[in-house]
Amino acid sequence: MDKLVVRGGNPLLGTVRVSGAKNAALPCMAAALLTEEEVILENIPQVRDIETTRRLLSAMGAQVELGYGRAHHRTTIQARNLTTPEASYDLVKTMRASTLVLGPLVARCGRARVSLPGGCAIGARPIDLHIKGLERLGAKITTEHGYVEATANRLKGAEVVFDKITVTGTEDLLMASTLADGETTMQNCAREPEVADLADLLNKMGAKIHGAGTSTICVKGVPKLHGAKHRIIPDRIEAGTFLIAAALTGGDLKVSGCDPTHLTSILQKLQEVGVKTTQGADSIRVMGDTPHQAADVFTEEYPGFPTDMQAQYMALATQADGTSIITENIFEKRFMHAQELVRMGANIKIEGRRAIVRGRTPLSAAAVLASDLRASASLVLAALVADGETIIDRVYHIDRGYEHIEEKLKGVGAEIRRIGEMFPRKAAAPTAQF
Ligand code: EPU
Repeated sequence: MDKLVVRGGNPLLGTVRVSGAKNAALPCMAAALLTEEEVILENIPQVRDIETTRRLLSAMGAQVELGYGRAHHRTTIQARNLTTPEASYDLVKTMRASTLVLGPLVARCGRARVSLPGGCAIGARPIDLHIKGLERLGAKITTEHGYVEATANRLKGAEVVFDKITVTGTEDLLMASTLADGETTMQNCAREPEVADLADLLNKMGAKIHGAGTSTICVKGVPKLHGAKHRIIPDRIEAGTFLIAAALTGGDLKVSGCDPTHLTSILQKLQEVGVKTTQGADSIRVMGDTPHQAADVFTEEYPGFPTDMQAQYMALATQADGTSIITENIFEKRFMHAQELVRMGANIKIEGRRAIVRGRTPLSAAAVLASDLRASASLVLAALVADGETIIDRVYHIDRGYEHIEEKLKGVGAEIRRIGEMFPRKAAAPTAQF
Protein backbone atom coordinates (compact mmCIF):
# COMPACT_ATOMS: atom_id res chain seq x y z
CA MET A 1 0.00 0.00 0.00
CA ASP A 2 1.30 3.46 -0.87
CA LYS A 3 2.57 5.88 1.72
CA LEU A 4 3.56 9.51 1.42
CA VAL A 5 6.76 10.69 3.02
CA VAL A 6 6.88 14.42 3.70
CA ARG A 7 9.78 16.40 5.14
CA GLY A 8 8.43 19.64 6.55
CA GLY A 9 9.91 23.11 6.54
CA ASN A 10 9.90 24.28 2.93
CA PRO A 11 7.78 27.30 1.92
CA LEU A 12 5.63 26.68 -1.16
CA LEU A 13 6.74 29.00 -3.95
CA GLY A 14 5.58 29.37 -7.56
CA THR A 15 2.38 28.34 -9.33
CA VAL A 16 0.23 25.29 -8.85
CA ARG A 17 -2.63 24.46 -11.20
CA VAL A 18 -5.99 23.20 -10.02
CA SER A 19 -7.63 20.19 -11.69
CA GLY A 20 -11.27 19.68 -12.60
CA ALA A 21 -13.70 19.14 -9.72
CA LYS A 22 -14.16 15.49 -8.82
CA ASN A 23 -17.56 16.23 -7.28
CA ALA A 24 -18.75 17.86 -10.51
CA ALA A 25 -17.19 15.20 -12.75
CA LEU A 26 -18.92 12.30 -10.97
CA PRO A 27 -22.54 13.47 -11.51
CA CYS A 28 -21.69 14.61 -15.06
CA MET A 29 -20.45 11.10 -15.86
CA ALA A 30 -23.68 9.66 -14.41
CA ALA A 31 -25.68 12.13 -16.54
CA ALA A 32 -24.28 10.48 -19.67
CA LEU A 33 -26.54 7.50 -18.83
CA LEU A 34 -29.52 9.65 -19.78
CA THR A 35 -28.79 9.53 -23.51
CA GLU A 36 -27.78 6.97 -26.09
CA GLU A 37 -25.59 9.58 -27.76
CA GLU A 38 -21.99 10.47 -26.98
CA VAL A 39 -21.18 12.80 -24.07
CA ILE A 40 -17.71 14.31 -24.08
CA LEU A 41 -16.41 15.67 -20.78
CA GLU A 42 -13.29 17.79 -20.55
CA ASN A 43 -11.17 18.75 -17.54
CA ILE A 44 -11.90 15.40 -15.87
CA PRO A 45 -9.41 14.93 -13.01
CA GLN A 46 -7.25 11.81 -13.08
CA VAL A 47 -8.29 10.48 -9.72
CA ARG A 48 -9.34 7.09 -8.46
CA ASP A 49 -13.08 7.92 -8.10
CA ILE A 50 -13.20 8.66 -11.83
CA GLU A 51 -11.73 5.25 -12.60
CA THR A 52 -14.29 3.68 -10.23
CA THR A 53 -17.06 5.49 -12.11
CA ARG A 54 -15.66 4.25 -15.41
CA ARG A 55 -15.90 0.70 -14.09
CA LEU A 56 -19.41 1.36 -12.77
CA LEU A 57 -20.72 2.70 -16.09
CA SER A 58 -18.90 0.03 -18.11
CA ALA A 59 -20.46 -2.72 -15.99
CA MET A 60 -23.88 -1.41 -17.08
CA GLY A 61 -22.98 -1.64 -20.75
CA ALA A 62 -21.82 1.95 -21.42
CA GLN A 63 -18.65 2.62 -23.36
CA VAL A 64 -16.32 4.86 -21.42
CA GLU A 65 -13.10 6.04 -22.91
CA LEU A 66 -10.71 7.85 -20.58
CA GLY A 67 -8.24 9.85 -22.67
CA TYR A 68 -4.54 9.09 -22.84
CA GLY A 69 -1.53 11.31 -23.45
CA ARG A 70 -2.41 14.94 -24.12
CA ALA A 71 -6.13 14.05 -24.05
CA HIS A 72 -5.83 12.56 -20.59
CA HIS A 73 -8.38 14.90 -19.07
CA ARG A 74 -11.07 14.10 -21.62
CA THR A 75 -13.60 11.33 -21.15
CA THR A 76 -16.07 10.14 -23.75
CA ILE A 77 -19.11 8.18 -22.63
CA GLN A 78 -21.67 6.50 -24.82
CA ALA A 79 -24.50 4.61 -23.15
CA ARG A 80 -26.18 3.23 -26.27
CA ASN A 81 -27.42 0.03 -24.64
CA LEU A 82 -27.66 -0.26 -20.90
CA THR A 83 -27.85 -4.00 -20.49
CA THR A 84 -27.39 -4.12 -16.71
CA PRO A 85 -28.84 -1.04 -14.96
CA GLU A 86 -27.19 -1.95 -11.70
CA ALA A 87 -24.58 -0.64 -9.24
CA SER A 88 -23.05 -3.48 -7.28
CA TYR A 89 -22.03 -3.44 -3.63
CA ASP A 90 -18.38 -3.93 -4.63
CA LEU A 91 -18.33 -0.55 -6.37
CA VAL A 92 -20.72 1.37 -4.11
CA LYS A 93 -18.78 0.44 -0.98
CA THR A 94 -15.61 2.03 -2.37
CA MET A 95 -17.39 5.16 -3.60
CA ARG A 96 -20.71 6.31 -2.18
CA ALA A 97 -21.28 8.68 -5.11
CA SER A 98 -22.12 5.52 -7.11
CA THR A 99 -25.68 6.08 -5.87
CA LEU A 100 -25.81 8.97 -8.37
CA VAL A 101 -26.75 6.45 -11.05
CA LEU A 102 -30.09 5.63 -9.38
CA GLY A 103 -32.03 8.59 -10.81
CA PRO A 104 -30.61 8.47 -14.35
CA LEU A 105 -31.09 4.69 -14.62
CA VAL A 106 -34.72 4.66 -13.54
CA ALA A 107 -35.45 7.64 -15.80
CA ARG A 108 -33.79 6.13 -18.87
CA CYS A 109 -34.34 2.36 -18.40
CA GLY A 110 -37.44 2.29 -16.21
CA ARG A 111 -35.56 0.22 -13.65
CA ALA A 112 -32.47 0.40 -11.47
CA ARG A 113 -30.83 -1.76 -8.83
CA VAL A 114 -28.32 0.04 -6.65
CA SER A 115 -26.56 -1.18 -3.53
CA LEU A 116 -27.26 0.79 -0.35
CA PRO A 117 -24.07 2.59 0.66
CA GLY A 118 -24.10 2.06 4.44
CA GLY A 119 -21.96 4.16 6.79
CA CYS A 120 -18.43 5.39 6.19
CA ALA A 121 -15.48 6.98 7.98
CA ILE A 122 -17.15 10.40 8.09
CA GLY A 123 -20.52 9.26 9.41
CA ALA A 124 -23.86 7.83 8.29
CA ARG A 125 -24.49 8.31 4.58
CA PRO A 126 -28.21 7.56 4.13
CA ILE A 127 -29.94 7.96 0.76
CA ASP A 128 -33.49 8.21 2.08
CA LEU A 129 -33.92 11.64 0.48
CA HIS A 130 -32.95 10.32 -2.97
CA ILE A 131 -35.52 7.53 -2.52
CA LYS A 132 -38.27 9.81 -1.23
CA GLY A 133 -37.71 12.21 -4.12
CA LEU A 134 -37.86 9.47 -6.74
CA GLU A 135 -41.04 8.14 -5.16
CA ARG A 136 -42.53 11.62 -5.52
CA LEU A 137 -41.76 11.30 -9.25
CA GLY A 138 -43.71 8.04 -9.32
CA ALA A 139 -40.97 5.41 -9.01
CA LYS A 140 -41.83 2.24 -7.11
CA ILE A 141 -39.01 1.52 -4.73
CA THR A 142 -38.23 -1.52 -2.62
CA THR A 143 -35.20 -2.25 -0.48
CA GLU A 144 -34.12 -5.85 -0.14
CA HIS A 145 -30.87 -7.68 0.53
CA GLY A 146 -28.99 -4.38 0.82
CA TYR A 147 -30.13 -3.16 -2.60
CA VAL A 148 -32.56 -0.43 -3.66
CA GLU A 149 -34.70 -1.49 -6.60
CA ALA A 150 -36.58 1.22 -8.44
CA THR A 151 -39.04 0.81 -11.31
CA ALA A 152 -41.19 3.25 -13.25
CA ASN A 153 -42.89 3.33 -16.64
CA ARG A 154 -42.15 6.99 -17.12
CA LEU A 155 -41.41 9.28 -14.21
CA LYS A 156 -43.93 12.08 -13.68
CA GLY A 157 -43.04 15.66 -12.79
CA ALA A 158 -43.92 16.62 -9.20
CA GLU A 159 -43.24 19.04 -6.35
CA VAL A 160 -40.30 17.86 -4.26
CA VAL A 161 -39.24 19.52 -1.01
CA PHE A 162 -36.01 18.12 0.42
CA ASP A 163 -36.27 17.71 4.22
CA LYS A 164 -32.56 18.42 4.42
CA ILE A 165 -30.10 19.87 1.93
CA THR A 166 -28.31 17.10 0.06
CA VAL A 167 -25.80 17.58 -2.75
CA THR A 168 -25.94 14.22 -4.52
CA GLY A 169 -29.65 13.91 -3.63
CA THR A 170 -30.34 17.16 -5.51
CA GLU A 171 -28.20 15.94 -8.41
CA ASP A 172 -29.88 12.53 -8.54
CA LEU A 173 -33.37 14.04 -8.67
CA LEU A 174 -32.28 16.71 -11.12
CA MET A 175 -31.07 14.05 -13.56
CA ALA A 176 -34.18 11.90 -13.10
CA SER A 177 -36.59 14.79 -13.62
CA THR A 178 -35.09 15.82 -16.97
CA LEU A 179 -36.82 12.83 -18.63
CA ALA A 180 -40.01 12.95 -16.53
CA ASP A 181 -43.39 13.69 -18.02
CA GLY A 182 -44.28 17.26 -17.02
CA GLU A 183 -42.75 19.82 -14.71
CA THR A 184 -40.80 19.19 -11.51
CA THR A 185 -40.17 21.85 -8.89
CA MET A 186 -37.56 21.05 -6.25
CA GLN A 187 -37.25 23.12 -3.10
CA ASN A 188 -34.50 23.30 -0.47
CA CYS A 189 -31.97 22.18 -3.09
CA ALA A 190 -28.21 22.18 -2.62
CA ARG A 191 -26.70 25.36 -4.11
CA GLU A 192 -23.20 23.97 -4.65
CA PRO A 193 -21.43 25.04 -7.89
CA GLU A 194 -21.21 21.32 -8.75
CA VAL A 195 -25.05 21.19 -8.96
CA ALA A 196 -25.04 24.19 -11.31
CA ASP A 197 -22.31 22.56 -13.41
CA LEU A 198 -24.38 19.39 -13.78
CA ALA A 199 -27.40 21.47 -14.82
CA ASP A 200 -25.22 23.22 -17.41
CA LEU A 201 -24.30 19.88 -18.94
CA LEU A 202 -27.92 18.64 -18.82
CA ASN A 203 -29.16 21.80 -20.54
CA LYS A 204 -26.52 21.26 -23.26
CA MET A 205 -27.99 17.77 -23.63
CA GLY A 206 -31.44 19.27 -24.28
CA ALA A 207 -32.86 19.42 -20.74
CA LYS A 208 -34.95 22.41 -19.64
CA ILE A 209 -33.66 23.38 -16.20
CA HIS A 210 -33.96 26.75 -14.46
CA GLY A 211 -32.67 27.84 -11.09
CA ALA A 212 -29.76 25.42 -10.56
CA GLY A 213 -27.37 27.00 -8.07
CA THR A 214 -30.34 28.40 -6.09
CA SER A 215 -32.52 26.57 -3.58
CA THR A 216 -35.45 26.20 -6.03
CA ILE A 217 -34.92 24.33 -9.28
CA CYS A 218 -37.59 23.92 -11.99
CA VAL A 219 -37.30 21.24 -14.64
CA LYS A 220 -39.58 20.83 -17.67
CA GLY A 221 -39.30 17.18 -18.61
CA VAL A 222 -38.42 16.23 -22.20
CA PRO A 223 -38.86 12.82 -23.89
CA LYS A 224 -35.21 12.45 -24.92
CA LEU A 225 -31.77 13.95 -24.32
CA HIS A 226 -28.92 14.09 -26.81
CA GLY A 227 -25.12 14.11 -26.76
CA ALA A 228 -23.07 17.13 -25.70
CA LYS A 229 -19.60 18.39 -24.92
CA HIS A 230 -18.88 20.01 -21.57
CA ARG A 231 -15.93 21.30 -19.56
CA ILE A 232 -15.96 20.46 -15.83
CA ILE A 233 -15.51 23.40 -13.40
CA PRO A 234 -12.28 23.70 -11.38
CA ASP A 235 -12.03 21.92 -8.04
CA ARG A 236 -12.69 24.50 -5.31
CA ILE A 237 -11.67 22.08 -2.55
CA GLU A 238 -8.32 21.28 -4.17
CA ALA A 239 -7.79 25.04 -4.61
CA GLY A 240 -8.67 25.67 -0.95
CA THR A 241 -6.26 22.94 0.12
CA PHE A 242 -3.40 24.63 -1.77
CA LEU A 243 -4.32 28.03 -0.30
CA ILE A 244 -3.95 26.60 3.19
CA ALA A 245 -0.71 24.83 2.25
CA ALA A 246 0.77 28.15 1.17
CA ALA A 247 -0.47 29.97 4.25
CA LEU A 248 0.88 27.29 6.59
CA THR A 249 4.33 27.14 5.04
CA GLY A 250 4.73 30.91 4.82
CA GLY A 251 5.05 30.60 1.06
CA ASP A 252 4.22 32.75 -1.93
CA LEU A 253 1.98 30.66 -4.14
CA LYS A 254 -0.27 31.32 -7.10
CA VAL A 255 -3.15 28.86 -7.26
CA SER A 256 -4.11 29.02 -10.92
CA GLY A 257 -7.00 27.67 -12.97
CA CYS A 258 -9.51 28.10 -10.14
CA ASP A 259 -12.74 30.08 -9.84
CA PRO A 260 -12.33 32.55 -6.93
CA THR A 261 -16.11 33.15 -6.86
CA HIS A 262 -16.54 29.55 -5.64
CA LEU A 263 -14.10 30.14 -2.78
CA THR A 264 -15.68 33.15 -1.07
CA SER A 265 -16.28 31.59 2.36
CA ILE A 266 -12.79 30.06 2.42
CA LEU A 267 -11.14 33.33 1.39
CA GLN A 268 -13.11 35.23 4.04
CA LYS A 269 -11.98 32.81 6.72
CA LEU A 270 -8.36 33.04 5.58
CA GLN A 271 -8.58 36.82 5.77
CA GLU A 272 -9.94 36.57 9.34
CA VAL A 273 -6.99 34.34 10.24
CA GLY A 274 -4.63 36.94 8.79
CA VAL A 275 -3.61 35.25 5.56
CA LYS A 276 -2.88 37.73 2.76
CA THR A 277 -4.39 36.86 -0.63
CA THR A 278 -4.96 38.64 -3.92
CA GLN A 279 -7.30 37.50 -6.66
CA GLY A 280 -7.12 37.38 -10.42
CA ALA A 281 -9.92 36.27 -12.76
CA ASP A 282 -8.96 32.61 -12.44
CA SER A 283 -6.23 32.58 -9.85
CA ILE A 284 -5.49 33.41 -6.23
CA ARG A 285 -2.10 34.36 -4.83
CA VAL A 286 -1.29 33.66 -1.19
CA MET A 287 1.45 35.60 0.56
CA GLY A 288 1.88 33.60 3.71
CA ASP A 289 4.47 35.64 5.56
CA THR A 290 2.22 36.89 8.38
CA PRO A 291 1.44 35.28 11.76
CA HIS A 292 -2.01 33.73 11.98
CA GLN A 293 -4.70 34.33 14.60
CA ALA A 294 -7.23 31.74 15.69
CA ALA A 295 -10.75 31.98 14.23
CA ASP A 296 -13.82 29.82 14.80
CA VAL A 297 -15.38 27.98 11.90
CA PHE A 298 -18.63 26.11 11.42
CA THR A 299 -19.30 24.03 8.36
CA GLU A 300 -22.42 24.67 6.33
CA GLU A 301 -23.92 23.94 2.96
CA TYR A 302 -22.72 26.18 0.11
CA PRO A 303 -22.17 29.12 0.17
CA GLY A 304 -21.09 28.50 3.78
CA PHE A 305 -17.74 27.08 4.81
CA PRO A 306 -17.48 23.58 3.26
CA THR A 307 -17.22 20.43 5.34
CA ASP A 308 -14.73 19.26 2.71
CA MET A 309 -12.32 21.99 3.95
CA GLN A 310 -12.81 21.39 7.68
CA ALA A 311 -9.91 18.96 8.12
CA GLN A 312 -7.50 21.18 6.20
CA TYR A 313 -8.60 24.21 8.23
CA MET A 314 -7.90 22.26 11.42
CA ALA A 315 -4.27 21.84 10.32
CA LEU A 316 -4.07 25.62 9.87
CA ALA A 317 -5.72 26.25 13.26
CA THR A 318 -2.96 24.28 15.01
CA GLN A 319 -0.54 26.95 13.75
CA ALA A 320 -2.65 30.01 14.63
CA ASP A 321 -2.24 31.92 17.90
CA GLY A 322 -5.16 31.30 20.24
CA THR A 323 -8.13 28.93 20.42
CA SER A 324 -10.23 28.03 17.37
CA ILE A 325 -13.53 26.24 17.75
CA ILE A 326 -14.39 24.18 14.70
CA THR A 327 -18.01 22.98 14.50
CA GLU A 328 -18.87 20.23 12.02
CA ASN A 329 -22.54 20.53 11.10
CA ILE A 330 -22.78 18.28 8.04
CA PHE A 331 -21.31 14.90 9.04
CA GLU A 332 -21.30 13.57 12.57
CA LYS A 333 -17.98 11.72 12.61
CA ARG A 334 -15.72 13.86 10.52
CA PHE A 335 -12.94 14.43 13.08
CA MET A 336 -10.81 11.31 12.56
CA HIS A 337 -7.86 13.48 11.48
CA ALA A 338 -7.83 15.23 14.88
CA GLN A 339 -6.32 12.21 16.67
CA GLU A 340 -3.57 12.00 14.07
CA LEU A 341 -2.84 15.74 14.33
CA VAL A 342 -2.59 15.28 18.10
CA ARG A 343 -0.01 12.55 17.51
CA MET A 344 2.00 15.19 15.65
CA GLY A 345 1.85 17.57 18.62
CA ALA A 346 -1.42 19.47 18.11
CA ASN A 347 -3.62 20.38 21.08
CA ILE A 348 -7.14 19.38 20.02
CA LYS A 349 -10.10 18.33 22.13
CA ILE A 350 -13.24 16.88 20.57
CA GLU A 351 -16.58 17.60 22.25
CA GLY A 352 -19.36 16.10 20.14
CA ARG A 353 -19.56 18.13 16.95
CA ARG A 354 -16.97 20.66 18.14
CA ALA A 355 -13.20 20.50 17.96
CA ILE A 356 -11.33 22.89 20.21
CA VAL A 357 -7.93 23.63 18.77
CA ARG A 358 -5.41 25.47 20.95
CA GLY A 359 -2.56 26.99 19.00
CA ARG A 360 0.06 27.49 18.26
CA THR A 361 1.85 24.21 18.89
CA PRO A 362 4.93 23.09 17.00
CA LEU A 363 4.26 19.93 15.01
CA SER A 364 6.69 17.06 14.95
CA ALA A 365 6.87 14.33 12.34
CA ALA A 366 5.20 11.02 13.11
CA ALA A 367 3.78 7.96 11.40
CA VAL A 368 0.08 8.77 10.80
CA LEU A 369 -2.90 7.10 9.21
CA ALA A 370 -5.23 8.68 6.66
CA SER A 371 -8.89 7.83 7.37
CA ASP A 372 -10.68 9.56 4.50
CA LEU A 373 -10.01 11.81 1.55
CA ARG A 374 -9.97 15.22 3.25
CA ALA A 375 -8.44 13.84 6.46
CA SER A 376 -5.46 12.71 4.41
CA ALA A 377 -5.14 16.18 2.91
CA SER A 378 -5.01 17.70 6.39
CA LEU A 379 -2.21 15.31 7.38
CA VAL A 380 -0.20 16.30 4.29
CA LEU A 381 -0.69 19.96 5.25
CA ALA A 382 0.44 19.35 8.83
CA ALA A 383 3.44 17.38 7.58
CA LEU A 384 4.52 20.32 5.40
CA VAL A 385 5.26 22.30 8.58
CA ALA A 386 6.27 19.47 10.91
CA ASP A 387 9.78 19.10 12.16
CA GLY A 388 11.21 15.99 10.44
CA GLU A 389 9.84 13.31 8.13
CA THR A 390 6.16 12.33 8.42
CA ILE A 391 4.97 9.06 6.95
CA ILE A 392 1.31 9.05 5.94
CA ASP A 393 -0.19 5.61 5.49
CA ARG A 394 -3.32 4.64 3.50
CA VAL A 395 -2.86 7.39 0.94
CA TYR A 396 -5.25 5.60 -1.42
CA HIS A 397 -7.79 7.88 0.26
CA ILE A 398 -6.04 10.97 -1.10
CA ASP A 399 -5.80 9.42 -4.58
CA ARG A 400 -9.59 9.23 -4.65
CA GLY A 401 -9.84 12.99 -5.06
CA TYR A 402 -6.50 14.78 -5.50
CA GLU A 403 -4.77 14.48 -8.85
CA HIS A 404 -1.04 13.78 -8.53
CA ILE A 405 -0.86 15.63 -5.22
CA GLU A 406 2.77 14.86 -4.54
CA GLU A 407 3.87 15.95 -8.01
CA LYS A 408 1.96 19.21 -7.71
CA LEU A 409 3.39 19.94 -4.25
CA LYS A 410 6.89 18.92 -5.28
CA GLY A 411 6.61 21.33 -8.21
CA VAL A 412 6.25 24.25 -5.79
CA GLY A 413 9.03 23.26 -3.43
CA ALA A 414 7.65 20.65 -1.02
CA GLU A 415 9.81 17.70 -0.07
CA ILE A 416 7.37 14.88 -0.62
CA ARG A 417 7.66 11.43 -2.11
CA ARG A 418 5.54 8.34 -2.48
CA ILE A 419 6.69 4.95 -1.46
CA GLY A 420 4.94 1.88 -2.80
CA GLU A 421 3.11 1.68 -6.09
CA MET A 422 2.32 5.01 -7.74
CA PHE A 423 -1.36 5.68 -8.57
CA PRO A 424 -2.81 6.94 -10.80
CA ARG A 425 -0.14 6.96 -13.53
CA LYS A 426 -2.67 6.06 -16.20
CA ALA A 427 -6.19 6.50 -14.92
CA ALA A 428 -7.50 4.54 -17.91
CA ALA A 429 -5.48 1.43 -17.19
CA PRO A 430 -8.18 -1.24 -16.90
CA THR A 431 -6.02 -3.34 -14.62
CA ALA A 432 -5.73 -0.65 -11.93
CA GLN A 433 -5.90 -2.09 -8.42
CA PHE A 434 -8.42 -0.90 -5.82
N1 EPU B 1 -28.42 13.02 4.10
C1 EPU B 1 -29.52 12.38 4.57
N2 EPU B 1 -30.28 11.66 3.65
C2 EPU B 1 -29.95 11.60 2.34
C3 EPU B 1 -28.80 12.27 1.88
C4 EPU B 1 -28.05 12.99 2.79
O1 EPU B 1 -29.86 12.42 5.74
O2 EPU B 1 -30.67 10.95 1.57
C5 EPU B 1 -27.59 13.80 5.07
C6 EPU B 1 -26.16 13.24 5.21
O3 EPU B 1 -26.11 12.21 6.15
C7 EPU B 1 -25.39 14.47 5.64
C8 EPU B 1 -26.12 15.61 4.93
O4 EPU B 1 -27.40 15.10 4.56
O5 EPU B 1 -25.52 14.64 7.01
C9 EPU B 1 -25.43 16.13 3.70
O6 EPU B 1 -25.09 15.05 2.85
P1 EPU B 1 -25.05 15.19 1.27
O7 EPU B 1 -26.07 14.29 0.69
O8 EPU B 1 -25.09 16.62 0.88
O9 EPU B 1 -23.61 14.58 0.95
P2 EPU B 1 -23.25 13.78 -0.35
O10 EPU B 1 -24.06 14.29 -1.47
O11 EPU B 1 -23.25 12.34 -0.06
C10 EPU B 1 -21.43 15.42 -1.24
C11 EPU B 1 -19.98 15.33 -1.60
C12 EPU B 1 -19.16 15.17 -0.33
C13 EPU B 1 -19.43 16.39 0.56
C14 EPU B 1 -20.93 16.51 0.83
C15 EPU B 1 -21.30 17.75 1.60
C16 EPU B 1 -20.02 14.33 -3.79
C17 EPU B 1 -19.74 13.18 -4.66
N3 EPU B 1 -19.78 14.21 -2.49
O12 EPU B 1 -21.75 14.20 -0.58
O13 EPU B 1 -17.79 15.16 -0.71
O14 EPU B 1 -18.74 16.26 1.76
O15 EPU B 1 -21.65 16.53 -0.41
O16 EPU B 1 -20.88 18.89 0.95
O17 EPU B 1 -20.43 15.37 -4.27
C18 EPU B 1 -15.51 14.65 -0.51
O18 EPU B 1 -15.35 15.09 -1.65
O19 EPU B 1 -14.55 14.38 0.27
C19 EPU B 1 -16.86 14.42 -0.03
C20 EPU B 1 -17.14 13.63 1.01
